[in-house]
Amino acid sequence: MPLPYRVVRRRAETADTASFVLEPLDEALPPFRPGQFAMLYAFGVGDIPVSVSGILPHRHRLMHTVRAVGAVSTALCELGPGDTVGVRGPFGTVWDTSRAAGGDVLVIAGGIGLAPLRPLVYEVFRAPHRFRRVHVLIGARTPGDLVYRDETAVWAAAGPGGTALTVDRPDAGWAGDVGLVTGLLGHARFDPPGTTAYVCGPEVMIRATARELVHRGLRPERVLVSLERTMRCGTGHCGHCQLGPLLLCRDGAVLGYDRAAPLLATREL
Ligand SMILES: Cc1cc2nc3c(=O)[nH]c(=O)nc-3n(C[C@H](O)[C@H](O)[C@H](O)COP(=O)(O)OP(=O)(O)OC[C@H]3O[C@@H](n4cnc5c(N)ncnc54)[C@H](O)[C@@H]3O)c2cc1C
Ligand code: FES
Repeated sequence: MPLPYRVVRRRAETADTASFVLEPLDEALPPFRPGQFAMLYAFGVGDIPVSVSGILPHRHRLMHTVRAVGAVSTALCELGPGDTVGVRGPFGTVWDTSRAAGGDVLVIAGGIGLAPLRPLVYEVFRAPHRFRRVHVLIGARTPGDLVYRDETAVWAAAGPGGTALTVDRPDAGWAGDVGLVTGLLGHARFDPPGTTAYVCGPEVMIRATARELVHRGLRPERVLVSLERTMRCGTGHCGHCQLGPLLLCRDGAVLGYDRAAPLLATREL
């Protein structure tokens, strides 16, 4: 059963995307970790998987960032402060940083793929001594599709690692890079065998980025990607999210490219 959470804050990110801070009305769910997702229920419409984009210990608050693409996501995007949403979770695997300790870190996002990576970025930024170099590389179709603009500007100016942004189609005000996010790898300094990469975005971007990283010498099991499938139960029971031998709600959504590569190679997600 979903637990009722109240929207305490809403922030428009782009024309079709908004972030929400949710707070339990009464009982709180167990703590979420970066990479995990919730099933968010828009009452009377339905529920969909949405990654946690912020984990706030104060009052057990959660942040989610939702792009309106269909019935449920649009209903969620229309919520405002004081509205109630049902939440189940936490579900799925995590962006594991234990294996990255002592090495270089690449966080690579395409579009709203930065949402699941955002809590990982803050986890890494909070403990810079654990890692060598940290690079956050962000791509989007247009400047208007970039999320968390205020925050990424701070990361770029003052973050402990390098943050770089690129767009496919610039507008008149864009002075940054143009081209695919993989083009930003040229800005990053990293030692491939000791580097862990965290990659999320459209499936075509994940495939191209993971291939490029392995080509540059990263070990496939240290390239972590997040795969999306339609989900229903979120608990490994309905089989709705099956992809090859995996149930992505249980075995994913985050998994190593060593396991994801054959699935990405054989079918479009
Ligand atoms: C583990 C996981 C984490 C996710 N995290 C986020 C998140 O943080 N923020 C967010 O906005 N969305 C996220 N999604 C995607 C989100 O669940 C879908 O956008 C949502 O299910 C669409 O439902 P709908 O009823 O709004 O649209 P529907 O009516 O179901 O679909 C409308 C259109 O969107 C397409 N669509 C449906 N599901 C997806 C999908 N999973 N990916 C891409 N296109 C889809 C359909 O093909 C259709 O064209 C995540 C999905 C998964 C599996
Ligand atoms: S969503 Fe039901 S098994 Fe994964």
